[in-house]
Amino acid sequence: MLESRLPGLHRLGSQERLSRLVEAGWLQPEEVALFGLECPGTTLENLSENVIGRIDLPVGVATNVVVNGVPRLVPMAIEEPSVVAACSNAARLALAGGGVRAVAGERLIAAQVLVATDWDEPLVRQFLAGMEPSFIAASNAQHPRLTAAGGGLRSVKYSALSNSPQPLGVFELLCHPGDAMGANAVNDFAEHFAATLGSGFPGQVQGAIVSNHAPGRPATATVRIPVSNLGSQSYAGAAVAERIETLSHWAQVDVMRRATHVKGILNGLLAVANTLYQDTRALASTLWSHLAHEGGTPVVTWQCEDETLVGRFSGPLVCGTVGGTGPAMPLTAIFYRWLGVHSAADLEEVLAAVGLLQNLAALRAIVTEGIQRGHMRLHARKSEEANG
Ligand code: MEV
Repeated sequence: MLESRLPGLHRLGSQERLSRLVEAGWLQPEEVALFGLECPGTTLENLSENVIGRIDLPVGVATNVVVNGVPRLVPMAIEEPSVVAACSNAARLALAGGGVRAVAGERLIAAQVLVATDWDEPLVRQFLAGMEPSFIAASNAQHPRLTAAGGGLRSVKYSALSNSPQPLGVFELLCHPGDAMGANAVNDFAEHFAATLGSGFPGQVQGAIVSNHAPGRPATATVRIPVSNLGSQSYAGAAVAERIETLSHWAQVDVMRRATHVKGILNGLLAVANTLYQDTRALASTLWSHLAHEGGTPVVTWQCEDETLVGRFSGPLVCGTVGGTGPAMPLTAIFYRWLGVHSAADLEEVLAAVGLLQNLAALRAIVTEGIQRGHMRLHARKSEEANG
């Protein structure tokens, strides 16, 4: 098994860092050149419209990360200094408890079909019951690759929108997207459903679209850190652990703090998602919708349990490892290999773990030396380097 502890990496220049990754076995010598390669213009043209160029983000690697017993090298693309260093530091602290344990969520994605109808809810449900089994069978038959991968349309439900000024109702289609993110598949199912409702249904379809609220069980991650490991020369470990617990409580009870607490979590997991060309807007909106729906759970919480600080991540993470943009990009295959990710569920687990570690790093900095000192040190180093 490769070692994710790569001490001294931060002191090297980027070419030397790549050589170090070759020495450590993370990279093949012939892969080094890929890091200077630009993505072909034709690929970019396929991703967007009126393309006139590209923008750059640095990709750094967070070290020391162990998730479910497997060492991972974690690529992170972000414009903010100290995020990668903070993740590596938190991951080093987590090593004392064996790293992070993570479990992917239930991979379900929903789409909605809005209808205007005078029928009441029981009547529409009766209508639906008559068509649902054959619709599901016919829809899944049109997606053989998805069903072969264990995915497909699972169910269709109906509910009237009770607080709407006009009589409206929503059909909700629930789909397992396999290893894809799933928006395309479920939009297909929803549009097909809208067309299938047809003349037998006394109402008009108003629209059909994926929902970024994830209905399944969320991804979880847990880390256990001996409190003695959290201290430094100036701060006792037990006091740091207690204050981290207090900050966790703060995020639970105060929306002003919760927004920033979650922003720090997103710093980590979106930086990883960026390197893999994931739909980061879907990731963020799904997490925020979960937060709103769950009445303020701040995604990551911390608790002192005897001599251990225990951190828990719980949140839906919408992502995919097949389809989408990623596979066409030169470095994606290398990044998946470093992350030890072979499926969308694996990716959820890594993202949950990184979000948890990033939050630990932020809270520990806030309760000890303060965020600015660490930030400023890195800013100073960068402008020193920039000015020669
Ligand atoms: C800065 O990008 C993120 C933090 O503000 C997160 C937090 O306060 O928990 C450090």
